[in-house]
Amino acid sequence: MGSEKFTKKILCIGAGYVGGPTMAMIAAKCPQYKVTVVDINKEKISAWQSDELPIFEPGLLDVVKQARGRNLFFSTELEKNIEESEIIFVSVNTPTKTFGEGAGKSADLQYWEKCARDIREASKSDKIIVEKSTLPVKTAIAMERILSVNEKGLHFEVVSNPEFLAEGTAIRDLENPDRVLIGSKETESGLKARESIVEIFANWIPRDRLITSNLMSAELSKLVANSFLAQRISSINSISALCEKVDANVTEVAKVLGMDSRIGNKFLNASVGYGGSCFKKDILNLVYLCETFGLHEVAAYWESVVKMNDYQQNRFVQTINQALFNTVANKRIALFGFAFKANTSDTRESPAFYVTKKLMEEKAHVVISDPKALNNAKIDLKNYDSIIEYEEDPYKAADKAHAIAVLTEWNLYKELDYEKIYKKMERPAFIFDGRNILDHQKLFEIGFNVYPLGKPHLIHFKDV
Ligand code: UDX
Ligand code: UDX
Repeated sequence: MGSEKFTKKILCIGAGYVGGPTMAMIAAKCPQYKVTVVDINKEKISAWQSDELPIFEPGLLDVVKQARGRNLFFSTELEKNIEESEIIFVSVNTPTKTFGEGAGKSADLQYWEKCARDIREASKSDKIIVEKSTLPVKTAIAMERILSVNEKGLHFEVVSNPEFLAEGTAIRDLENPDRVLIGSKETESGLKARESIVEIFANWIPRDRLITSNLMSAELSKLVANSFLAQRISSINSISALCEKVDANVTEVAKVLGMDSRIGNKFLNASVGYGGSCFKKDILNLVYLCETFGLHEVAAYWESVVKMNDYQQNRFVQTINQALFNTVANKRIALFGFAFKANTSDTRESPAFYVTKKLMEEKAHVVISDPKALNNAKIDLKNYDSIIEYEEDPYKAADKAHAIAVLTEWNLYKELDYEKIYKKMERPAFIFDGRNILDHQKLFEIGFNVYPLGKPHLIHFKDV
């Protein structure tokens, strides 16, 4: 079977939350291209080849099935695939560094650099390398330097194409994105490579949504976009604390803000805190970058977004502790949701992890419930397995519990029979809604003491 029939051969290194869905969409939309995704993790590749995909993402399996075996392939063979591809997307993880200079803030680029070296060694022809992973500004230039030191006379053009998809809505975001950003050097070969990437997305995305820029702008825009989104959440979360003190309602305040077209109504839901693999990592990356250039005030400004998120998570646990008469020791507390947001199995940086750890420090008996993320929760909490209970069924999780804390906004939790739940809980029964998704008045009428975020608490005791 020759692959000559394909007009472009595209490779993606890294079959994670970003690489997998993005390549599946390109392959589904462009049957004329051969798209291969490689990963060092064999189990992950086997899962991509099966109907039990390694990540849960609504609609993903359908998209994968449209193209898998036709023009979409998953493999662990790096060298051969590098050799035969003209365009290589790199979507390996870039976690926050845990050691040495910049520990806790800057990005750990070891996987990225290794990819560049692997590409250089295995290549026999010129290639376009596309940065998909979110990277510190100027990484493309560093990569180009590593790639260009080859004795084969090969030319590698590095292009930045940051991914803006959000988990849980990845398919919709990939199919109909607000914009796709492609940054390159503004040299002749840079512009040519840029056009080659634009051409891929132009197969299904209107040209006016394909934005081009120089390399640094593209790299920086991704960090800044995530930082702005996180900043909005931290801003509304800071106001939620104030609302609770002055008997205001944060949802009402957010509605007023959101109807101002200059502000806009998205990302104004107060919560127990934002999570996910990107926000914290990207802000800290921005902070590190600013510090590197001596912009200490700018760095402190952005770092406060992360501090506010930590504060909000901590405040949520304090509220639980205080409401439960200042002791949660040996009390059964059911956590509804462990994923960092609804419609994903991803638990990276989930506020639920922090809340669980804090409650365990207070010796609470934590029961974790989630429709999709229990496996990841078990991995995250493997050191505490003996004292945590995992229970997919929320009714069972809440059985004999003193309190429920809603940590993920799964629709499922809105639709439960709370009268039934209440009957089986310890008295007084408490509910802490870390996502403001429940009908608080109704819960209060059932008998719960209700603690929404940023709204007056609905409690049955007169003197608390
Ligand atoms: C990753 C980055 O974390 C993020 O910064 C960036 O914006 C997009 O890419 P994600 O897809 O969510 O995001 O990461 P992850 O799900 O961890 O996937 C990365 C994959 O790369 C993993 O499957 C890992 O096995 C693979 N990998 C890592 C390689 O194939 N080779 C390596 O050398 C290192
Ligand atoms: C984010 C960006 O949205 C996306 O563009 C980028 O490519 C990757 O990072 P993601 O982390 O998948 O995507 O999810 P997102 O929907 O942004 O939510 C992040 C966190 O913020 C979640 O924990 C979510 O629950 C929380 N959130 C979001 C709020 O607390 N309130 C809101 O109003 C919105």
